[in-house]
This record gives sequence, C-alpha cells and structure tokens, in this order.
Amino acid sequence: PPSGLIDRFGRRVNYLRISITDRCDLRCVYCMSEEMDFLPRAQILTLEEIHTLAAAFVALGVDKIRITGGEPLVRKGALDLLRRLGRLEGLRELVVTTNGMRLAQSAAELKDCGVRRINISLDSLRPERFRALTRLGDLAMVLRGIDAAVAAGFERIKLNAVILKNRNHDEVADLVGFAVDKGVDISFIEEMPLGWVDGRDRLEGYYSSDAIRSDLEMHFSLLPTPETTGGPSRYFRIAGTDTRVGFISPHSHNFCGSCNRVRLTAEGRLLLCLGNEHSVDLKRVVRAHPGDVERLKGVIAEAMSRKPERHDFDLAARPVILRHMNVTGG
Ligand code: GTP
Ligand code: 5AD
Ligand code: SF4
Repeated sequence: PPSGLIDRFGRRVNYLRISITDRCDLRCVYCMSEEMDFLPRAQILTLEEIHTLAAAFVALGVDKIRITGGEPLVRKGALDLLRRLGRLEGLRELVVTTNGMRLAQSAAELKDCGVRRINISLDSLRPERFRALTRLGDLAMVLRGIDAAVAAGFERIKLNAVILKNRNHDEVADLVGFAVDKGVDISFIEEMPLGWVDGRDRLEGYYSSDAIRSDLEMHFSLLPTPETTGGPSRYFRIAGTDTRVGFISPHSHNFCGSCNRVRLTAEGRLLLCLGNEHSVDLKRVVRAHPGDVERLKGVIAEAMSRKPERHDFDLAARPVILRHMNVTGG
C-alpha cells in the first residue's frame, strides 16, 4: 500500500502547520478583534505535547512543519521547541511564520535552531498605516527584524501582505520594490473570512490578486514560473531580480485540488482544512494516553478520511467559521 498520509481525494499530506499559541502582540484588523479573549493555559498544548504530536506526524511521512501562532515568538520556550523539532529524523523542512516584532532579537537564534526559511508579515511601509492595520505594531521594529533575518542568512525569506481595498492596495508596487531591495520574496494574500472581526464588511475590502497583478505590471515585468513551495501560492519572478511574487487567492483561484497540508491548532485540534470545521481532537488522545505513539498515529491516519475537498469561503456571507485566524495560524 502507498505509505504516508493520503486523503479520500488522493492528496498526499506531507506538511503540518502548528499554531503554538493563540496569543499575539498585535491585533491585525483582518485577524483579530480589538478585544480578544485568549485561551486559558490549561487548554493549550504544552510544548512537550506539541513535540510528541509533531514526532507522530513525522513518523507518518510529514516532512515539512511550519510553526505559526498567534505570534509563535511570544510563547516562552518557542526556541527550545524549535531546536528539538529541528532534530526530528525525517523532517526535511522546519519553517516559521512571524509578525516580525521580536525578530531583531531572535533571528540569529532561529537560524541556529535549524529553521531554514521564514515568512514575515508586512502589510504596509507607512508607519501610521502599519499601526492602523496591526493596531499595536511598530513598523520600525519589524523593519529591524527583517534586516536581522536577512543578516542571519536564511535560505529564503518571504514577506506576506494581506491586501485590503482602500487600506493598502495602493502600496503593492512599493512593497515589491522593498522586497527587491532586500532580496526577498513577497506574497499577496486575499483576506479570508475567519472569525467575526468587529463587524467589518470583508466584501468591501476585497482586492483581487488579478487587480494586484495588473497594478504591478505597470512597474515591473512579471515572468510566470513553475516554482512552488507546494503551497497555494502561484509565483512570478520579477524580471532581472531574485525576487518572486506569490499570489494566494482563495477567492479568485481555488488551489484546494493540490492541498498537501493539515493544521494543529493551539488547543490541539487537528484541522483538516483552514476553511472548514472538520477536525479531530488530538489533545484528548495525547492527554489520555501519554506516550502511546502508536495510538496517536492511528488516530491521525484515520483523520485523513475527514479532509474535505475544498474550503467554502464566502466573503459576502457572515463568517460561518467563528474561529479566528490566530488559533489556526493561517
Ligand atoms: P510556504 O508556501 O511554505 O512559503 O508557506 P505559506 O505561504 O503557505 O505560509 P504562510 O504561513 O506564509 O501563509 C501565508 C498565507 O497563506 C496565510 O494567510 C495562510 O492562511 C495562507 N494559506 C496557507 N495555506 C493555505 C491553505 O491551505 N488554504 C488557504 N485557504 N490558505 C492558506
Ligand atoms: N485572511 C488572510 N490572511 C490572514 N492572515 C491572518 N488573518 C488572515 C485572514 N483573515 C495572515 C497573516 C499572516 C499569515 C500567517 O496569515 O497576515 O501573514
Ligand atoms: Fe497576530 Fe498574525 Fe493575527 Fe496579526 S495576523 S494579529 S500578527 S496572529
């Protein structure tokens, strides 16, 4: 029989995204409400439990793990966890997604832990705007974080920008220019309707990947490339540079047919799709049967049959998914 995790649609799952905390030092408008209740400590997985679960996934053929949050670097012990994960036999790629606020201090150590690539959120290059979009962010600090990451010598750095109409859509060319200057990649993301965020009308803020592309084409020449990280991004290369521009377009270009990932939420739910609620409670299993890796592997393998064919995101409807992005990690 084929080895590894395979779902009902023949998709091979080799990529696990783990949200190690729902907490964050920012409150990005598309992600969280201004006032958020975070999960009580006892409800979230311990670092030991996360390690046990990650090891079970790797034993089942997962070879890429991305650590996300919330903001992963606000969790105490995050770097120790990363260092341990970096030693898992069979793990090909350990990567991190961060908001960059603490990168200036930890970039070098992250690299030393075995993290090969990092993705850093950056929605605007204008300090006031950056503050408005993140509510608590400090652009200068994130820019220092990006410089520290470049200096640390990661194999690849990617910026993530969620583009919202009339908030930052006029900055796409500036953001690409910045990425080219720094020698990094950048992805533009269409907002996804997760959680109810202060009654914002997400349809009003919709700005499509195609619109971004035509805006960019007035300044740069975008060459299509077959390169992929196995993710939902479609990539283009900016002619004459090392920079790739990715588009993550859940609304305008469905990518679910080649989905290769599942997610572990901060409270230990295995989510089979970002845009659906199908899930399996792995915290219950790991707490009821500590050390029983075979049982865990069985439950995980079984869970694959619940992976839905695709997300059902609909920007025009009230969000069906009440979970916010910070528990899920994007
Ligand atoms: P790499 O391809 O490894 O660089 O990572 P990535 O771009 O998938 O990861 P990142 O954490 O930087 O996420 C960027 C955005 O892509 C986030 O907004 C994610 O929510 C979104 N994204 C990643 N995977 C999926 C997916 O399976 N479905 C949907 N709808 N969005 C996804
Ligand atoms: N839609 C799309 N992307 C989102 N992110 C957070 N919330 C949303 C949302 N509702 C992005 C962040 C970060 C990545 C992990 O997810 O900007 O770059
Ligand atoms: Fe924090 Fe990331 Fe959510 Fe922004 S998008 S509030 S940085 S978890």
